[in-house]
Amino acid sequence: MSEELKRIINVEDSVLARVYQRFPVCITRGRGAILYDIYGREYIDCMGGYGVSIVGHCHPRVVKAIKEQSERLITCHSSLYNEKRAELLEKLIKIAPKGLDRVFLSNSGAEAVECALKVAVKYTGRDEVVSMVRGYHGKTIGALSATWNPKYRRPFKSLLIPTFKFIPYGRIEKAEAAISDRTAAVIVEPIQGEGGVHIPPKGFLEELRKLCDEHGAVLIMDEVQTGLGRTGRMWASEHWGVSPDIMCIAKAIAGGIPMGVTIARGEIMESLKLGEHTTTFGGNPLACAAASATIDVIVEEGLVERARVLGDFFKDKLLKIGERFGVVRDVRGLGLMIGLESRFDIYNILMGALERGVILLYSGKNVIRFLPPLVIEREHLERVAEILEVLLKEEESRIARP
Ligand SMILES: Cc1ncc(COP(=O)(O)O)c(C=O)c1O
Repeated sequence: MSEELKRIINVEDSVLARVYQRFPVCITRGRGAILYDIYGREYIDCMGGYGVSIVGHCHPRVVKAIKEQSERLITCHSSLYNEKRAELLEKLIKIAPKGLDRVFLSNSGAEAVECALKVAVKYTGRDEVVSMVRGYHGKTIGALSATWNPKYRRPFKSLLIPTFKFIPYGRIEKAEAAISDRTAAVIVEPIQGEGGVHIPPKGFLEELRKLCDEHGAVLIMDEVQTGLGRTGRMWASEHWGVSPDIMCIAKAIAGGIPMGVTIARGEIMESLKLGEHTTTFGGNPLACAAASATIDVIVEEGLVERARVLGDFFKDKLLKIGERFGVVRDVRGLGLMIGLESRFDIYNILMGALERGVILLYSGKNVIRFLPPLVIEREHLERVAEILEVLLKEEESRIARP
């Protein structure tokens, strides 16, 4: 390890809050699906910034939009009008599910969720929220109240909202029992990401829609990770033909610049009155310009279809690998959101992949999650599959050793 890298690691480790699982690599540059470390070494990026890099790193159109906007105007509070914000809003409405036509702009996924929860409570005049076991919606207090993982919740239990309850993802009878005339909202990821890449069983999302309609509750679809083409449809909920009342978007929306979007049916969002929910940076022209260019890239470069085709190709490869290795318990996903579940902790596989030039992502201790940029090349995915095969072979012989 060079002195420079040692110094960087030392500074970050001694100053940055110790809340992230860290990999011993310093990334300084990126292009498309490739990242470069401080030594100029290449990595195929299957982490994609936890799902942020849908259009790839430093997409030239996004870079151009950011450059141009940064020379014109970076900040402009939403109490003033701005042409880039208007441009983005028009594009958002065009790609959003039918009927969702009022937008609140913020700065992260958790913020998009906070807004959705407040709107739902304001609109219904109720305070119960039904969320899912293994569901993940962020770590601010409202979002954390809807997030299931006890590891994240336990230390803050006394601050969490007591009227939120959890039902097993996919269990219709539990949903029927939990959703009532006291329910303000049901919040759900159309495919669970952080919880391990779980696809809902047939009929589940449709039933949630029906139950919300019957009881006058609001259906919040959290598409922070699944949205914008990731799963081979613009919105993952389209796979099941279900339209939400409120949708949360973030991660990829601004090509890597922070942005959160809460989009709702007009009459629902309009229940929020002047000043009841605002944020200083929300809708700043720099993020809006980046988001506007990102949407153009997704639509004009056919990335939604690309995710479907490449996702089918890669999942097929992983399924075939899975058949040959007993350590693989399951391969699942849609588009380029794929999970490979191992029977064992995947730490060695993640580190082995890093040594061989592939950056993978955890989903719990035993699921490898693939969230590569949708611009990734087929050859990159082939290379990742080859490396994975080598690592699984090593893992099996390691486990077989007495
Ligand atoms: C489905 C979902 N919702 C919300 C969030 C929170 O987003 P952020 O980390 O930007 O607050 C995430 C982040 O992983 C997510 O996957």
